Amino acid sequence: MTQRAVLNTDLRKGKINRNIYGHFAEHLGRCIYEGIWVGEGSPIPNTKGIRNDVVKALKEMQIPVLRWPGGCFADEYHWKDGIGPREGRKRMINTHWGGVVENNHFGTHEFMELCAMLECEPYINGNVGSGTVQEMSEWVEYLTFGGVSPMSELRQENGRQEPWAVTYFGVGNENWGCGGNMRPEYYADLYRRYQTYVRNYDSNRIHRIACGPNVDDYHWMEVLMREATRFMDSITLHYYTIPGPSWDNKGAATGFETQEWFSTLEKALRMDELVTRHSVIMDKYDPEKRVGLIVDEWGTWYDVEPGTNPGFLYQQNSIRDALVAGVTLNIFHKHSDRVRMANIAQTVNVLQAVILTEGEKMVLTPTYHVFNMFKVHQDAELLDMTLDSAAYSLEGREIPEVSASASVNSEGVIHVSLCNLNHAASSIVPLELRGLALGAVEVTGTVLAGDRLDAHNTFSEPEVVAPQSFDAYKLEGNRLTVELPPMSVTVLAIKPQ
Ligand code: AHR
Repeated sequence: MTQRAVLNTDLRKGKINRNIYGHFAEHLGRCIYEGIWVGEGSPIPNTKGIRNDVVKALKEMQIPVLRWPGGCFADEYHWKDGIGPREGRKRMINTHWGGVVENNHFGTHEFMELCAMLECEPYINGNVGSGTVQEMSEWVEYLTFGGVSPMSELRQENGRQEPWAVTYFGVGNENWGCGGNMRPEYYADLYRRYQTYVRNYDSNRIHRIACGPNVDDYHWMEVLMREATRFMDSITLHYYTIPGPSWDNKGAATGFETQEWFSTLEKALRMDELVTRHSVIMDKYDPEKRVGLIVDEWGTWYDVEPGTNPGFLYQQNSIRDALVAGVTLNIFHKHSDRVRMANIAQTVNVLQAVILTEGEKMVLTPTYHVFNMFKVHQDAELLDMTLDSAAYSLEGREIPEVSASASVNSEGVIHVSLCNLNHAASSIVPLELRGLALGAVEVTGTVLAGDRLDAHNTFSEPEVVAPQSFDAYKLEGNRLTVELPPMSVTVLAIKPQ
């Protein structure tokens, strides 16, 4: 089949919510501690204990929303352990992740300070698995109530006079698994009960988020939507890309073969099917699409780096991860009528991280560069685009060679993001631009490519995979022919003159 794409520049399909570019930071391994929080006395440059280099990089990437404190950690977290003078906070073992000491130095105030520095929205995940209704209710009161109340007074005693604005609040995490091993019927009832006491104080309006299914658990989605739609604003979905055949054999982050390159991308593309099929169930109970689907955990999950704590989930990040990020974000764009937020797991030093640190050193991963290149789509209008992709095949299996999406921003600039999944060959995409005045456009581009399957950045070689300017395109009339290098992610800017 001849590869071909048609972009209807005058056919807008709704806003791409910037929160699709959200992140997730858990008390896991070196994400919060070392990766974000180093403490005020650290020689690593920090402001109020939070790393300056990491804040700068995340701000540059325009991080819109940050989920915290878990993950599985959320359903073991008791927020009152993390407030008050730090020296007096409880020390305990993080039993879920790595068996290390959690000193609770990073708690509610530190997280809200981080969000203020990043100028991003907080998304707080409450504890249903091992916490009480009262505990969850009081956390919301502590955070958002400005009037006279015990929690409001406690917050003021701890140095914060004014309440914070908190919109996104999750009622439990993975309650089908680490969050309590519940059945959907039981969780649906608990959700209805807990969320009742997640109150709107003063002018603050909480967006209540129910724990949704794992991967293809359509039964969970059906039951939650049937029993609790009117009590929720969004419901979550978790899906990780694991190249190997099982959790015990996930595959390595680097040093893998072509077969694993292929299976990783094949599995990442499954996100489209999952979102489509969960959306069909949501449509049945919520045809107006009031309820959002929040994919608040996604990304690659490999075997940990040799010699590191298995409970820390530390992995390298290569051009393969950049492709996973690119195709997944393109999928979210396409489903932006339902997908209102997504949070890649996790921000620093854990799973598909955008940043890796070692002591005072920091490196930006290929995934970071994709988020930075794609930020032009945040809050832009999705454009109608049809792509007949060539096939990319390996050992009798076939996936599309190219993934693409396009949007137009408030200044009328069109951005097209294109991924070439093929590890060995360039891909030529003739893109027909419809609805634009001919001969009056200016095109620029940026590309991220790798010269080997696991090309990645290290602390000693941080620029191996870095964005370059892209000029492998030809504009003839309304046809823009683009030549995408193998293993690459490209973003084009098309400016009508
Ligand atoms: O992101 C790592 C873990 O994966 C999270 O804690 C949990 O929610 C999921 O199983």
